[in-house]
Amino acid sequence: MAKKITSRVSWVGKVDWELTTFHGDELSTHRGSSYNSYLIRDKKVALIDTVWQPYDREFVKRLQQEIDLDKIDYIVMNHNEIDHSGALPELMRHIPNVPIYCTKKGEAIIRGHYHQDWNFVNVKTGDTLQLGDTTLTFIEANMLHWPDTMFTYMSGDNILFSNDGFGQHYATESLFNDAVCMDEVMREAEKYYANILNTYSMLVTKKVKQILDMNLPLDMICPSHGVIWRNNPAQIVEKYLQWADAYQENQVTIAYDTMWQSTRLMAQAIADGIRQVDPSITVKLFNVAHEDKNDVLTEIFHSRAVLIGSPTINYGYSFAIAGLLEMIKGLKLKKKKAAAFGSYGWSGDAVKQINQHLTEAGLELINDGLMKLWVPDENALAECTVYGQEIARAL
Ligand code: FEO
Repeated sequence: MAKKITSRVSWVGKVDWELTTFHGDELSTHRGSSYNSYLIRDKKVALIDTVWQPYDREFVKRLQQEIDLDKIDYIVMNHNEIDHSGALPELMRHIPNVPIYCTKKGEAIIRGHYHQDWNFVNVKTGDTLQLGDTTLTFIEANMLHWPDTMFTYMSGDNILFSNDGFGQHYATESLFNDAVCMDEVMREAEKYYANILNTYSMLVTKKVKQILDMNLPLDMICPSHGVIWRNNPAQIVEKYLQWADAYQENQVTIAYDTMWQSTRLMAQAIADGIRQVDPSITVKLFNVAHEDKNDVLTEIFHSRAVLIGSPTINYGYSFAIAGLLEMIKGLKLKKKKAAAFGSYGWSGDAVKQINQHLTEAGLELINDGLMKLWVPDENALAECTVYGQEIARAL
């Protein structure tokens, strides 16, 4: 069902309560998501973005209940990943000649996905589209997070349609940020930023500052996932500036895998040592083999330092740690400290290899790491505690 946002703008998207993973299996979505599409009715009518392909018919059918599709003058595609462009083929089947406003790269992506010769209008930053009393202004946002991304600003109602930017995978029927649990929304917004946008943080800072310098009156930010920022939209803009600036809280995340509990015992003793020196540090431990990888990554994003522990297996580290290290590398974390530890039986290669991987990922090693042979006894665990104390002092 369509929902009124202002007298001229309606939400016509899809709330996906069933979504548990996104980007294939790359990103967990414990709280579902939404694909937000917006219908603007001024003297001219514009549709902003569509929804994910499995919901294409449902989307078009509900849009028909809201408006005669022939009355749609323009389609604006801010970003053309399939969760937003997936319903285009079904929609264009009904209105094949309606112009699609998008960036040049957006056109290339739509053509690459759907292989159709639709009526594309390429736009650049500063280009405008007059709807009547209101005007749309396009702002390219290259690599936030795809090369085609742009934002669209609507004067009059003072709305920034930001697509993935400022979004969260958060299903709600309430639509607005002032009608839901803000702790949940902020947690999901941070997870979204950490896992999808952090890699492009330098561009985020530049783009947010560019938009702030435009001094546009801003009453709402309407992203393509999750809640609309109606109450104090500046709060999420400020958060983005913080998250993009080598963000860290006073937290240490210890992420480990364990075969016969030895590396887990080491992790706990190290945590004790950190807390003994500085009780103000929040220390969190995660057995990576059992935890959600994206939640662990978000905790690492949130931290001053990350400690990675793995037993040595087959002359290397474990499968779960390998996956986590690869994901850490992709995030391009800044000013984050790191250290490694693990138990071993004979070769003891894991710690050295973790160090190498963390260095390649751009993290600053605190030390050379700590290895313990077989099951750590009391003396070995005491050394782990001292190791934790040294790490706390190094922070
Ligand atoms: Fe929500 Fe990049 O798609």
